[in-house]
Amino acid sequence: MRTSTAPWWRDAVVYQVYVRSFADANGDGLGDLPGITKRLPYLRDLGVDALWITPFYPSPQHDAGYDVSDYLDVDPRFGTLADADALLTRAHQLGLRVVVDLVPNHTSDQHEWFQQALAAGPGSPERDRFLFRKGRGRGRTQPPNNWTSVFGGIAWEKLPEGPDGSTEWYLHLFDRTQPDLNWRNPEVRAMFADVLRFWLDRGVDGFRVDVAHGLFKDKALRDQRSAHPSSQHVESMLETDTKDEPMWDQPEVHDLYREWRRLLDSYDGDRMAVAEAWTQTPARTAAFVRPDELQQAFNFAWLLAKWDAGDLADCIRRTFATLDPVGASPTWVLSNHDVVRHATRYGGGKVGVARARAATLAMLALPGSAYLYQGEELGLESVDVPEELRQDPAWFRTGKVWRDHCRVPMPWSGARPPFGFGGRKQPWLPMPSEWAALTVQAQTGKRGSTLELYRKALKVRRTFATSAPREVEILDRARSVLAFRRGPVTVVLNAGKRPVALPKGKVLVNSGRLADGKLPPDTAVWIG
Ligand code: NOJ
Repeated sequence: MRTSTAPWWRDAVVYQVYVRSFADANGDGLGDLPGITKRLPYLRDLGVDALWITPFYPSPQHDAGYDVSDYLDVDPRFGTLADADALLTRAHQLGLRVVVDLVPNHTSDQHEWFQQALAAGPGSPERDRFLFRKGRGRGRTQPPNNWTSVFGGIAWEKLPEGPDGSTEWYLHLFDRTQPDLNWRNPEVRAMFADVLRFWLDRGVDGFRVDVAHGLFKDKALRDQRSAHPSSQHVESMLETDTKDEPMWDQPEVHDLYREWRRLLDSYDGDRMAVAEAWTQTPARTAAFVRPDELQQAFNFAWLLAKWDAGDLADCIRRTFATLDPVGASPTWVLSNHDVVRHATRYGGGKVGVARARAATLAMLALPGSAYLYQGEELGLESVDVPEELRQDPAWFRTGKVWRDHCRVPMPWSGARPPFGFGGRKQPWLPMPSEWAALTVQAQTGKRGSTLELYRKALKVRRTFATSAPREVEILDRARSVLAFRRGPVTVVLNAGKRPVALPKGKVLVNSGRLADGKLPPDTAVWIG
C-alpha cells in the first residue's frame, strides 16, 4: 500500500497492453477485453500499478485501431461496452488503475463525420471538421502543400472529381484512411470533451494521448521549408530545434491541454493524461507537462539513448534539467508497440536480453513513472514477420519494415504456438516456436528468468519508489559505467567490456549473475 499523498501516477509502473496481442478469450486469433480481464491477476502479481490499453474502439483496423470510427463504443472484435466496464471493475478490485488510449489527431475515414463530409461537398460545415483543400498548380492537380505522411508518401488524398471537374484533397498525416481533424473547429473540441467525459464517467483513470504534439496545424497549412523525412520517425526525433514543422507542436495545442486538465481535475481520483509527443527537443516536450497541462509525457529520449553509460547518464541529467523548471515528474520507457523491442535494439540474442534487463533495472530505480511494454518482462525480442503477413500501414506505404515485429502476441503457456494466447487458432501474427522457453509458465519460479527479475525488481521498488528522495546523484565512475544514487539505493550498470567492482552494501536486485563481488558486463545491480 502506498503511504504517500502523491497522486497515484507519479511513481506508477504502467504496463502497456497491446489489445490485439495480449490475450484472446474467444479464440478468434485476436486479443480482446475479456482476455485482458482474465489475465489481470497476472499483472497484479507482476507488481505493476496500472495498465494502459491500446485502442479497442470500433475501427476498420487499418492502423491497428488507431483509426477510430466511433470513440464511444467497443469494437465487436474486442468485446462490448459491458466487457470494458467489467474490465474496469475487476482492475480496480485488484488495485490496478486503467489508462485508455485517446486518438484525437485523426479519425477513421469510416467515422460518421468523415462520411458526412464526403457527402456534403466543398465549403460545407461537415468538411470544415477535417482539413479539405483545393489542389495547387495548373488544373489544381498538385497536392495543397508539400507535407509528407509519417507513414510515407504525400500527406494528401485526392477525392474523385465532381461532375464539373472540381475536386478537393484531404490531409492525413498518417494513413490515407486516417483523415486529420480540424482542431480550429469548435465542434471538434466539444466532441472530444464529450469523449473524455464518457470514459471518465465509466471509471477510467487516465488517457494516453496519441500524437499529442499534432492536432493543431499551422493555420495557413503553409509548405514545410526544408522537407525532411517524417518527423515522427524515431531516428529523426529529438535532435535539434532547427526543423521547420508547420504540422506539429503548434502553440494552440497547449490551451486545449489546459482545458482537458481542468476537465480531468473536475473528477475525483487523480485522473491523468500522458502525452505521446514526439517533439524536437526535451524542452518542447516539457511544455506539455506544465503545472496546468497534462500530467505526464513519454520520455522518448530514454528509449533513444544508446547502450552507452555516458548517453544514459546524459539522458537522466537532461530529463531532470528540463522537467525541474516546470515542476513535472519524469517518465521512463524503453519499448512500445511502435519501436524495436529494447532487447533487439541493444544487439539481440543473449547480449541484447542481458542489456535490456540491465537497462530496465536501472530505469526502475529512477524517480517517476515507468512504462513497460507487454512481453518485455519475458525478454521477448522483435520478430521477423513474413512479408505476406505484415499489417503495418507504414509497411504498405513505404515497403520498409517498421512495427509488426514488436506486436506478436504474448506467449503464456505450453510448448507450441499459440502458447495459451487463445484457442487453437493461430494468432493474427505468427509466434516463433522458440518462445516455448519464454512463456509465462516456463519462466514462473525459474531462477534467473527475466520474468522473475521483473517481479523481484517491482517488489523491491515498492519499498522505496514513493518514499525515497527524488534527487538522483550521478556518481563518477569509469566511462563505461552508469552509477547513480537515489537516497538509500545505489544503482550500477556496466555497459563496458570488463567486470567492475561493486560498491559496498547489500545487493537488493541484480539483473545477471555477479561473480566474485564484481559486476559483469551488460549487467546492473541495486545496492541498498
Ligand atoms: C502513434 C501510435 O502509437 C501509432 O501506433 C499510430 O500508428 C500513430 N500514433 C497514429 O495514430
